[in-house]
Amino acid sequence: MNARPSPPDPRELLSRMTIEEKVGQLVQMAPSRAAGRLSSEEKRRVREGRVGSFLNWRHPAGMAEAQRLAREESRLGIPLLFAFDILHGFHTVFPIPLALAATWNPPLVEEVARLSAREGRAAGIHWTFAPMVDVCRDPRWGRIAEGPGEDPFLASELASAWVRGFQGEDLASRERVAACAKHFVGYGAGEGGRDYAAVDLSLGKLLEVYLPPFAAAVRAGAASVMAAFPSINGLPAAANPFLLQTLLRRKLGFRGVVVSDWNAVGELPVHGVAADVEEAARLALEAGVDVDMASGLFAEKLPGLIRAGKVPVSLLDQAALRVLELKAQLGLWSSPPEPQAASRTGPLPAASRGLALRAAREAIILLRNQDELLPLPPRLRSIAVVGPLADDRKNPLGPWPGAGREEDVVTVLEGIRSRAPAGTRVLFAPGCAVDDPSTAGFAEAVSLAKSAEIVVAVVGEPARMSGEAASRADLGLPRPQEELVRALVETGRPVVAILCSGRPLALPWIAEHLPAVLAAWFLGVESGNALADILFGISGPVGRLPVTVPRSVGQIPIYYGRTNTGRPPGSGRDVSGYIDLPESPLFPFGYGLAYTRFAYREIRVAPPVVRRGQSLEASVIVANAGLRAGAETVQLYLRDRVASRTRPVAELKAFQRVSLEPGEERRIRFSLPSETLAFIGPDGELRWEAGDFELRIGPSAASGPTAAFRLENEPWPTPSPAGTP
Ligand code: NOJ
Repeated sequence: MNARPSPPDPRELLSRMTIEEKVGQLVQMAPSRAAGRLSSEEKRRVREGRVGSFLNWRHPAGMAEAQRLAREESRLGIPLLFAFDILHGFHTVFPIPLALAATWNPPLVEEVARLSAREGRAAGIHWTFAPMVDVCRDPRWGRIAEGPGEDPFLASELASAWVRGFQGEDLASRERVAACAKHFVGYGAGEGGRDYAAVDLSLGKLLEVYLPPFAAAVRAGAASVMAAFPSINGLPAAANPFLLQTLLRRKLGFRGVVVSDWNAVGELPVHGVAADVEEAARLALEAGVDVDMASGLFAEKLPGLIRAGKVPVSLLDQAALRVLELKAQLGLWSSPPEPQAASRTGPLPAASRGLALRAAREAIILLRNQDELLPLPPRLRSIAVVGPLADDRKNPLGPWPGAGREEDVVTVLEGIRSRAPAGTRVLFAPGCAVDDPSTAGFAEAVSLAKSAEIVVAVVGEPARMSGEAASRADLGLPRPQEELVRALVETGRPVVAILCSGRPLALPWIAEHLPAVLAAWFLGVESGNALADILFGISGPVGRLPVTVPRSVGQIPIYYGRTNTGRPPGSGRDVSGYIDLPESPLFPFGYGLAYTRFAYREIRVAPPVVRRGQSLEASVIVANAGLRAGAETVQLYLRDRVASRTRPVAELKAFQRVSLEPGEERRIRFSLPSETLAFIGPDGELRWEAGDFELRIGPSAASGPTAAFRLENEPWPTPSPAGTP
């Protein structure tokens, strides 16, 4: 019996460990039988202290047995860590992260993370591989679904909220899990939007666009960081000391655990940067990977490399110590041990459903609402609900469903049936399958539509078309769904489209021809209730796009924060753009309608000349100019008009949600700290360059009143043209 009543000092523990035991802490494995107990070989490895953590294992009895073997039958009694991808909920599945980003509501995201942590920890999980904070400007990439969208500021606000929610103040609390900011760094910029593809990024973009959410997660105390799969500027992240040491540890001051992605160490020879698996293990440890997820190569190769003097033992010690410290912070040596996790039984608690409903409602974006078709009127004889995703329980769980169950999902049809006014007939026909070209069901759907007063078409991607290894070259609806929508429109009945997807879809015909369009992502267990609440005006739409929606794949990458060209659109004849498409997106970043209209006026900025170290006060009056109450997300963008490097035409720097009654108006105030006016120079440091700025406060990246101010500062040394990135 080696179980210890109180946590040992990790350093003292390390001093008593053999090389194999130290390496064991760096070994993370998936059990061969995820649904059951360990094999006898796996048990032997646990008893010998040669496994530090398991991932993706949800079998309470098996996990408890493994933990008992580690604590009671291994020489030093070091507990195991159990890790799992809790991306957007565990039992209670919330909207996918991109949809949560669409809420522009960090406190809500923090609550979602807190509840997910509580459910995960109760199921025996200590460590989640979340949040995914990869900025992404290419919706072809399937993993855009898992992340915060295109903007570094919004992503950073959300990253800290996720980390605070998962971890709280005390990781040892039995309601918290260690967070893992992933995937460090630049994974969202893979060539062509292809998953795992090489990333080629200027240092400027890396530091200004892709790094900030990681910096925010680290500031919020993230316990771990995952190295990304791809090569970044020529070197895979798992073997990249510039990323893992220079940027992550030295620049961001990260002190926690770095974990590789799944078999990423094993893939180093495939990338062509290691001659064999031994070199792969050495490169990864030297670069700064502490924990080897799933490749088994640290276990197989590090002891020999250390004994042969090819890898200094100090590197091993440092990595093992970080893992032991994480275990201590999580209170894994606690006595009595954590209660044995139980499998979930029974329905989801009402409070969890309540939060899932709130999150799902806030994630829905009203993209179009011609003639105020929505909300649907209280007196409606009949609604035809059509579409392959209308009565679907599987896809709302999204690509990382955690431990979610289909039977917990409320479908759109069910939501509409339960929320529709008494006396409204709700008719249903799927029309077609989600991804099968047959049009055999069209006739039934069309005749149903003709017999109804209004049609709600629930169409989109299946969840398997987004997430990992699910990049798409086409951003339309899988066939024949658009033909189905066209056939419904031809009936002459007003058609409301509900678009389900893990990414922004490029659907110009739908955006132009349908009177009402809602972006509904994958909304989790309360999907149907949330959508019905919006349709019937039980709650108003508040979601805003966390990503620019392209008109066509050919516009990608398209994002609002681009740097200018010498020949911008609108400046003459030969301008930057396409001859066969407008240069504007289908919908801009930050966009989303409400059931009322908001008017902006009287923008003010003070002082007109600001100095470094001073904050800038900006404000605008926002008025509810419509007939219903509503909430607006007021967004502040800056443009640095003159600098030593071209700056983005707009950068989001602050946002605030305000709820206003009809006719009500309020002055919305922002106080911008001095850092907001700086940018990252070629040396990677913030610089405040004197010059003119434009400040805009509006409802999206594309509109709103502007004001000007000046920043005064000592002249900044001119950067040398050579050697600048
Ligand atoms: C691979 C994914 O890239 C990563 O995000 C995830 O955490 C691991 N698999 C573990 O499931």
